[in-house]
Amino acid sequence: MWTAVLLLTMAIVDLSVSQHYSQWLSQLRGRRQPLGWGAEDADCPLECDCPPSYPTAMYCNGRNLQHVPNVPSHIEYVYLQHNQIAGIRDGVFDDAPNLVWLMLFNNRLDSDKIGKSVFGKLKHLDRLFLDHNELTRVPPNLPKSITELRLGHNKISKVVSSSFEGMTNLTALRLQANVLEDVGGALEGLKSLTMLDVRQNKLRKVPDKLPEALQQLYLEFNDIESVPTGFLTLNPNLQFVRLAHNKITDKGLPSNVFNVSTLVELDLSFNKLEKIPVVSRNLENLYLHANKIKEFSLSSFCGPISMTNFSRLRMLRLESNEISAKDIPAEAAYCLRRVAFIDV
Ligand SMILES: *[C@@H]1O[C@H](CO)[C@@H](O)[C@H](O)[C@H]1NC(C)=O
Ligand SMILES: *[C@@H]1O[C@H](CO)[C@@H](O)[C@H](O)[C@H]1NC(C)=O
Ligand SMILES: *[C@@H]1O[C@H](CO)[C@@H](O)[C@H](O)[C@H]1NC(C)=O
Repeated sequence: MWTAVLLLTMAIVDLSVSQHYSQWLSQLRGRRQPLGWGAEDADCPLECDCPPSYPTAMYCNGRNLQHVPNVPSHIEYVYLQHNQIAGIRDGVFDDAPNLVWLMLFNNRLDSDKIGKSVFGKLKHLDRLFLDHNELTRVPPNLPKSITELRLGHNKISKVVSSSFEGMTNLTALRLQANVLEDVGGALEGLKSLTMLDVRQNKLRKVPDKLPEALQQLYLEFNDIESVPTGFLTLNPNLQFVRLAHNKITDKGLPSNVFNVSTLVELDLSFNKLEKIPVVSRNLENLYLHANKIKEFSLSSFCGPISMTNFSRLRMLRLESNEISAKDIPAEAAYCLRRVAFIDV
């Protein structure tokens, strides 16, 4: 009886292994068969797929690769995500100066195993995704042409002033879930940057010298206690500011710091506020839940109440504070006429 079960199990295991193997073989052969046998395919590394329908793309993702295969010169889009790549030696991309996208997320990249000029010659690189790796530093000599750089979910503790030097076309920078305590002046020259994501780091203050074009700033899950005076007048293009899950108190907010007409969304949930800060009438979304707010101050939204002058607020969340629906004065209906429902 047991022998029969064992034999049967072995047969099943054997069958699945051989099926897998033959699928893999036929995949390899399929590419080498006359139909797919174009000039482009001949350069394609054996580990990867270069489908004739996308002649500039090379797919090497999810194959347990430990090294970056050679990239042929006509390739522009390289997918290397979900592998086991820890190091990249200098010169690997030198034959492929036309790369536009380079996807390396979800690997094991280690800063000490990445050559100093790996990316340096990629003059047309537009997107570089290095998130979910084990980097401790921003790789040096990044191409100045990059517009979107992802470095989230690594172990980066510091950015230096040269980290993003000359990257005047960078519009989105993601550094979330690292161990940054400060970003220093590293962002100063990024004149096209509109989105900065530094959630879930160890920042103790709002970064100063933010790029002037910045519109979206994500600072959730840090150790920030205060917001600098004039924060939004110094950064007049900011529209979305997310500061949830920090340690901000009333004392940490200079008066009127959020009363600027450009702000559209402000998230201050999960902090230590006891009062509702004054906001502009132009604000549309305000998140204040999970604080210690004790009173509903209508003047924070409206100032003198008039029939013609009201707040544009649509979303107001106040639940998990120390107020209840009966603390909301009747006049709120005039001023907050666009808010469908106040969560308390
Ligand atoms: C930035 O983008 C412009 C327009 O696409 C381009 O002409 C310029 O060369 C780019 N700058 C860099 C440093 O790549
Ligand atoms: C908010 O700013 C507006 C416009 O600058 C100003 O008129 C208003 O008095 C300010 N609100 C408060 C409560 O200071
Ligand atoms: C509404 O309030 C703003 C800012 O307080 C003020 O500049 C504006 O003149 C007011 N408009 C009306 C119609 O009362």
